[in-house]
Amino acid sequence: MGSVTDTAGLAMATGTAVGFGEPAVAAEDGRRGVRVRRRVPARLAIVGWVVGLMFGVLTVVNLASQHALLAEVDELVTETLARESGEFARFAVAGVDPDTGLPFADDGALLASHLDRQSPDDDEIVFGVLAADRAAITVLRQPGAPPWDASADAPTRGAILDDPVAAGSIDTPAGEMRWEKRPAGTTGWFVAGYFIDRDRADVRDSMRTLVLYSLLGLALAGVGAWFVSGRIMAPVRLVRSVAAEITERDLTRRIAVDGHDDMAALARQFNGMLDRLQEAFGAQNRFIDAAAHELRTPLTIVRGNLELLGLQAVGDDPQERAEVVALATDELDRMARIVADLLTLSRSQRPDFLRRRPVSVAELTCDLADEAARLAPRRWTVGDVGEGRADLDPHQLVPALLHLVRNAVHHTGDGDEIRISSSVEGGVARFRVSDRGPGVSPAAAATIFDRFARGGSARARATGTGAGLGLAVVRAVAEAHGGTARLDPAPGPGATFVVEIPCG
Ligand SMILES: Nc1ncnc2c1ncn2[C@@H]1O[C@H](COP(=O)(O)OP(=O)(O)OP(=O)(O)O)[C@@H](O)[C@H]1O
Ligand SMILES: [Mg+2]
Repeated sequence: MGSVTDTAGLAMATGTAVGFGEPAVAAEDGRRGVRVRRRVPARLAIVGWVVGLMFGVLTVVNLASQHALLAEVDELVTETLARESGEFARFAVAGVDPDTGLPFADDGALLASHLDRQSPDDDEIVFGVLAADRAAITVLRQPGAPPWDASADAPTRGAILDDPVAAGSIDTPAGEMRWEKRPAGTTGWFVAGYFIDRDRADVRDSMRTLVLYSLLGLALAGVGAWFVSGRIMAPVRLVRSVAAEITERDLTRRIAVDGHDDMAALARQFNGMLDRLQEAFGAQNRFIDAAAHELRTPLTIVRGNLELLGLQAVGDDPQERAEVVALATDELDRMARIVADLLTLSRSQRPDFLRRRPVSVAELTCDLADEAARLAPRRWTVGDVGEGRADLDPHQLVPALLHLVRNAVHHTGDGDEIRISSSVEGGVARFRVSDRGPGVSPAAAATIFDRFARGGSARARATGTGAGLGLAVVRAVAEAHGGTARLDPAPGPGATFVVEIPCG
């Protein structure tokens, strides 16, 4: 009985622990359940997932931004250097010497004149070199000095001029300098340089700010996820606390359902489950009460009879003794029948209850009629007999049908007709037992298939020997076969009970 809280606890365990994407599995004791990994509280797990996912996304965004910004800096520097050297190339072709008004005849004058007009940015340096004597001519027209004067450093200058390609980069005390050179006439070189590290440092500064904001966003998302998950999990916590308060003695607690979202649906399902549990426990208790009551009567009778045997007056008279023993034996038989019916009812729920095999419906009908005829002197008739085979367990079905026959016997007198018939139609094998007795009143018809239900008058109930289990057993056996057992609603005379077993 402790399984009430266990079951509820199992169902609600998702409220306390994470079991993402776990398949439903059969637990070892045969119950179907969901394997729940009890590691991290669900609320923490939600926050962890949100923060983890956001961290991943922000990392990708930050790295992509850094890559894009650095690529932009690279592109800007390449463009700037290309523009500077392009301007020089155009000037070399189209420019005129201001002194002569003619194209430049002297490379030095060309360089000087061009450099004179330049106003490079803070990170730039442009200079010219006359290569005839490797003496540098440097003309810088810019408001501030370049980060480092590469033109004044002979090794740097030499490395640039000696490089076989027209553009490259070189390490300087002011960081990496990207450069591009162009020949100036036959003896000179025009060189444009760009100190890229300052722009890269700007990118790093921007990135630091971005990372800072990202971390702030991450922290806010974590706090937000904590509150939101708290709100979402609140009904689950409520379900959990209600589940914890439920015991087999008090199944009356319910969750107040508010709204139409998933959580309201969960609460409704949970309340529904409690309704079913309460109903099942109620039925179980009623069943145990009724069983105890039914068994107590024959026990009292047997005990009374045994006590009678102990009395000298009865114990000495063989005839009286035989009567008392017969009475006690009758009661013990009655008890044995009740116990056997209870066992069948309980076993009918088990999957291995039936051992089916193909059985001829006609043979089964005839066997039933033979057995019935031995029960009591009635006018036994066999009506239509169905032709065909059905997959069923005759060891369960024949005793169940005999319950119907015994009922018919019980409600008829000597020489009254009891008819047994069967049919096979539309994939259903039907067995009918009809009698010409008093029939079943419409009021009683609704309950006679219930356990311990006995129709008829109160007097009949008080004096009757039946426990009210027969029809419940018939129905349980029929349902175990996937079929039904019912009272034929056609008006009397008498009563006709029908058992239907699918055979298609
Ligand atoms: N053929 C019948 N004619 C009239 N009433 C019937 C007939 N069969 C069953 N009933 C009614 O249905 C009730 C339930 O039948 P059921 O077989 O379940 O119990 P029972 O015969 O009283 O006891 P048990 O079968 O356990 O010995 C009976 O008490 C009776 O009132
Ligand atoms: Mg009966």
